[in-house]
Amino acid sequence: MRSLKWRTSHAVFVTELDDEHKEIFEALSGVQQVVVSRGPLVETRKATQRLTSCVVGHFAHEERLMRAARYGSMRWHKQQHDAARRRVGQFVLGIEHEDSKAGLDLVEYLTSWLHNHTRLSDRMLGAFLRNQRRLMCKLTLQAGTKPIDACTWVRANGDTFDPQTAEGGF
Ligand SMILES: [Fe+2]
Ligand SMILES: [Fe+2]
Repeated sequence: MRSLKWRTSHAVFVTELDDEHKEIFEALSGVQQVVVSRGPLVETRKATQRLTSCVVGHFAHEERLMRAARYGSMRWHKQQHDAARRRVGQFVLGIEHEDSKAGLDLVEYLTSWLHNHTRLSDRMLGAFLRNQRRLMCKLTLQAGTKPIDACTWVRANGDTFDPQTAEGGF
């Protein structure tokens, strides 16, 4: 099985998303520990609930960000979340029905899914959000620091003019 640790190769360079990914990896590792040590069902349930709540909350957060940013690849990205939500739900149901393989299957599935998803889809989203935030920051700075009289006045024909000295006003 692949490593259950978050590494810089998973970074999407948006702090809040990276922090949530780290939390998911930690929760996943918690499920693995209890499953491998064949802990009591109540412990497996507790660890699984922590994991699903991290995953569900994180997906919803990314989807809110994508919607707010009018991200062009949102449909494609959300389809991947939907597929993972469905699969995780099936494994959780298996755990509830005391299917002895379901816990390990969940860990294996989600580990592999996270490695692939964070490195491609989430990284693409991260790049888009960073560019958008940079642009917004630049626009805010420009709007906030430029004096109003620094505007360039343009006539209908495209010629520039100074409204304070122009004959006949504008
Ligand atoms: Fe995602
Ligand atoms: Fe993510």
